[in-house]
Amino acid sequence: MNILSPSLLSADFKKLGEEIAAIDKAGAEYVHIDVMDGQFVPNISYGMPVIKSIRSCTKRVFDVHLMIDEPIRYVKDFADCGADIITVHVEACKDVAATLEAIRQLGVKPAITLNPDTPVSAIEPYLNQVDMVLVMSVVPGAGGQKFIPESLDKIRRIKKLLDENRLHADIEVDGGINTDNVRAALDAGANIIVAGSAVFKGDAAENVKKFKELM
Ligand code: DX5
Ligand code: ZN
Repeated sequence: MNILSPSLLSADFKKLGEEIAAIDKAGAEYVHIDVMDGQFVPNISYGMPVIKSIRSCTKRVFDVHLMIDEPIRYVKDFADCGADIITVHVEACKDVAATLEAIRQLGVKPAITLNPDTPVSAIEPYLNQVDMVLVMSVVPGAGGQKFIPESLDKIRRIKKLLDENRLHADIEVDGGINTDNVRAALDAGANIIVAGSAVFKGDAAENVKKFKELM
């Protein structure tokens, strides 16, 4: 079954609880939470206090995407505030294996991601340690960007590597996904779809339903 993970970055923050209730009720399985530190990416978004506060709004899976340097410093804090999946950037960790292991030890699902200009070979050594691989299909740091079409090849390559090694990690795709290109991402091998602006621009519940029909 394919999963939709709306990115809260494009939600209306003054009514975050209502936005989450709407996507939950409409059938989105995950909630994608983008944490930015102003270092790994230029922007700063939100962190632990916000996640802790919205945890009571839904029982859905909290899919936390850390765009921060040396995330190992904070994985326990994110676990404590309710993350179910923690995704770290291969480019941001001095010791990737130790970071993924620390997440696993906390009882949270570890996931790895890579920037559009980072080759698949960079994450290959860690595929046996993760429950999910996130393919960034825009340069991380902001919502509302255009999907990079070469990401589809990356998804296919990762899917092939996982299959060849009999690994069962999910493949998530994040950035510029809309109802016109979601099918191509799924056909390439992704099974978890992040969508920010395409969900929260307009009627979020209606948009979630449209996505789910296509998935
Ligand atoms: C980008 C974030 C994405 C972003 C997606 O840095 O990781 O999750 O919010 O937004 P859209 O779907 O608008 O590209
Ligand atoms: Zn994200």
